[in-house]
Amino acid sequence: MRKIIIAIDGYSGCGKSTTAKKVAAKLNYLYIDTGAMYRATTLYFLESFISLSNPKEIDKALSNIHLNFIFNSVTGNNDIFLNNLNVEEEIRKMYVSEKVSQVSTLPQVRKTLVDQQRRMAKKGAVVMDGRDIGTNVFPNAELKVFVTADINIRAARRQQELFEKGEEFTLPYIIANLNERDRIDTTRTENPLRKAEDAYILDTSYITINEQVDYVVNLYLGKVIP
Ligand code: DC
Repeated sequence: MRKIIIAIDGYSGCGKSTTAKKVAAKLNYLYIDTGAMYRATTLYFLESFISLSNPKEIDKALSNIHLNFIFNSVTGNNDIFLNNLNVEEEIRKMYVSEKVSQVSTLPQVRKTLVDQQRRMAKKGAVVMDGRDIGTNVFPNAELKVFVTADINIRAARRQQELFEKGEEFTLPYIIANLNERDRIDTTRTENPLRKAEDAYILDTSYITINEQVDYVVNLYLGKVIP
């Protein structure tokens, strides 16, 4: 079969990454989590106290950030490394989630990361998830999926995920964080989150992870007709 690019975009906490990762494993494709790249960049900015209103400082910071994904044979995950340090766990914490959308609005950050994402997917056979993959990074991707879900269900899933990692937050707090990120992600000037015209919509509210994966794999196999 032809090696293609599968672009998976959507709101925060809809199960994009879980779906994308499993689809990639099934198809033997490379999985690239672009959210992890924005999160790792945000972590660097936080740790280095970078001022988000100082373009020179931002440029300097970006030139000091080296990101790469390394396969973790224990978890089966592609862990993200920031300057040779595995930050996969740290970037999922709430204090990073609270800043990441703001950092992602910066044009310099987006340009740097989008360039890297295009380079990483040069050879095709890639599942990439994020917010602007089907609209901006790969507008010609052969298959585009836009993921959505009910906000209460997204928040409950996120609460459980955080709980399993030792962080406890109330549902209203998580709903507020998701809504705020959606607001910033959809209204920013630079490549906002929106559904590409030719993207299929996947609502994960009432379906299982296996059903989500099958939906995308079936699209890939050409079994679902628009
Ligand atoms: O997918 P995620 O929740 O880990 O993404 C974290 C944030 O990164 C998200 O709120 C917005 C930003 N992001 C982006 O602006 N563009 C992408 N392609 C991926 C993520």
